[in-house]
Amino acid sequence: MKEIKAIIQPFMASKVIDALREIPELPGITVSSVKGFGRGRAENAKHKIIEDSIEYAMKTKLEIVVADHLVEKVVEIILKNAHTGNVGDGKIFIYTVDDAVRIRTGERGEEAL
Ligand SMILES: Nc1ncnc2c1ncn2[C@@H]1O[C@H](COP(=O)(O)OP(=O)(O)OP(=O)(O)O)[C@@H](O)[C@H]1O
Ligand SMILES: [Mg+2]
Repeated sequence: MKEIKAIIQPFMASKVIDALREIPELPGITVSSVKGFGRGRAENAKHKIIEDSIEYAMKTKLEIVVADHLVEKVVEIILKNAHTGNVGDGKIFIYTVDDAVRIRTGERGEEAL
C-alpha cells in the first residue's frame, strides 16, 4: 500500500477530485485546506495569507491510500488535472503505508481500504 499526498492549487482541486472519483477502484480521499511555501517562498502566489509577517500560499492537500497497482494511475490523473505550467502548481509525494485498519470491522491491510 502507498499513500499519495498531493499539494495542489485550490482552484484546480475540484477538477482533480472529479477525475479521481471516476476510478472505480479508488477507495477514498481525504481533502484539507493547507498553507505553505515552496522555493518561491509564496511571493507570486495567487492566493496568499500573511501570518506573523510570514507569507503563505493557500493550497489543497489530497491524501489517498491505495494498493500499489493503482499508484501510477492516480499520479497520472493528478498530474494531468492539476497542471497549469505555472509556478505553484504543487507537488506529489508517495510513501509506503505499513498497515491500515477499518475500525468498523477490524479488517487489516488492503482489505481495510
Ligand atoms: N519539499 C517540500 N516539503 C513540504 N512541502 C512542500 C515542499 N515543496 C512544496 N511544498 C508544498 O507544496 C506547495 C506548492 O509548492 P510549489 O508548487 O510552489 O513548489 P516549488 O518547488 O516552488 O515549485 P514551482 O517552481 O512550480 O512553484 C507549497 O506551498 C508547500 O505547501
Ligand atoms: Mg513555488
